[in-house]
Amino acid sequence: MENFNKQEIDAKLKETFPLEHRWHNRFHLEMPFGLINDPNGMAYHDGKFHIFYQWNPLGCEHKNKCWAHTATRDFVHYSLPELALWPDDVHDKDGCYSGCGTVEDGRLRVLYTCNRKEDGVRIPAQRFGSLKGDKVEKEEIIVPDHPEGITGHFRDPYLFTRRGKRYFVIGAQREADEKGTVLIYEETAEGWKNLGEVKNRLGDFGYMWECPNLVQFGSYDVLIFCPQGLEAREFDRQNIYQAGYIAGHLSLDSMDMMQHTKFQELDRGFDFYAPQVLTHEGRQILIGWMGMPDKDSEYPTAELGWQYSLTMPRELRLRQGHIYSRPARELKDLRIAETAVELEAEDIKEISRPLFEGSEILLDMDLGESKEIVTTLAYGTEKLRFIYDRKEQVMSIDRNEMKKGGRGVRRFKLFADENLSLQIFVDKTAVEIFFQHGEEAASILVFPEKNIRPEITIAADGELKSLSGKIWELDSFRFNA
Ligand code: FRU
Repeated sequence: MENFNKQEIDAKLKETFPLEHRWHNRFHLEMPFGLINDPNGMAYHDGKFHIFYQWNPLGCEHKNKCWAHTATRDFVHYSLPELALWPDDVHDKDGCYSGCGTVEDGRLRVLYTCNRKEDGVRIPAQRFGSLKGDKVEKEEIIVPDHPEGITGHFRDPYLFTRRGKRYFVIGAQREADEKGTVLIYEETAEGWKNLGEVKNRLGDFGYMWECPNLVQFGSYDVLIFCPQGLEAREFDRQNIYQAGYIAGHLSLDSMDMMQHTKFQELDRGFDFYAPQVLTHEGRQILIGWMGMPDKDSEYPTAELGWQYSLTMPRELRLRQGHIYSRPARELKDLRIAETAVELEAEDIKEISRPLFEGSEILLDMDLGESKEIVTTLAYGTEKLRFIYDRKEQVMSIDRNEMKKGGRGVRRFKLFADENLSLQIFVDKTAVEIFFQHGEEAASILVFPEKNIRPEITIAADGELKSLSGKIWELDSFRFNA
């Protein structure tokens, strides 16, 4: 076990914020050193949204997993990130793995997985902790090991309440067939009781399900999870691992997710995994990890000593069994009003505009005669392209014209009839795009070789009847000690 010196690590963070390197994002959470992954412990407490996330402060490898912590009232101003939880006893000596947050008796509590390996055997324990000042104090272990019938792949608890009782859902792998599943535990006077697996109709669906969330939208229950081991298909499942959901009605009596939808992905980009949802005042706010396990070599910032970002907060809505995601409304405060550029054109085939250091672009097109519409973010000769094939109703995201970092194409069905609507956030390396008012979203990282401001071009093969939109310069997140 490494020795984690909180004082030293926090002091080093203090010296390095705000982040300056040209590949560092301005309105996405990231760290100046080390590797970050899953958002954890999200909770609203004392008037603030608390965001924790997986962090290896000692290097860009997937080990030494700690939790970093920041808090924000408005998703624009953040407390300076600090080290909040780290491996320092036998139970979590191999990592403080992912978990959730909750508010209990006026305290912010977290529930996380203690990762421990003895002679290569995993002994995962689920443990509570409480935020005291600037660190999480470790408290009771409520489940000391994996239950019978489940392998050592048993992690990432997410608390929820039903009928006035507390439960958590947790990611797992079945022993019998080594397939992924989730279990639910119920809090009882005698401790936390295993209610078993959540039945569903997905069939054989990968070898492990990580990071489940169970979220209520009206009378629907949505189970979000990250299955590993699914084959890529023509229009979905194109990343090595997925992050998606099924919506239905969960019966805790029969432990069955009844009448559920098919599995749908939450994001269509290359760089999205392990999202967490916080429910607050009727809002479902999601933050994801902008990264992907087992693809570290696609992210060239490792050479500079840091890796990965978190997505901007998104607000989710469920309509007809499908999740729509939009950027959280607070992000409108990043818009620098004076910089607004209006776009208004009719009967055109092409339009280009220079962008800012950080930009938001809103576009609404009446597609007219055009069959193929290509929206390009160009960094000199390097390009990220969004190609819409109207006949096939397919959107492709093409990263092959970038020199560094991950490349490739992602394709998905998108039903734009006469109108195509895009909302694009272009940070230094993070691009988040929302299609058709949030019907689909995509997170993409690009690492332009040269430090040039990007330009956006919309080009169609036939005349667009009309195009209207707006471009703003976006401000950076602010960090206060
Ligand atoms: C998902 C994950 C979780 C685990 C954590 C460790 O990215 O593998 O299952 O708790 O990362 O960092």
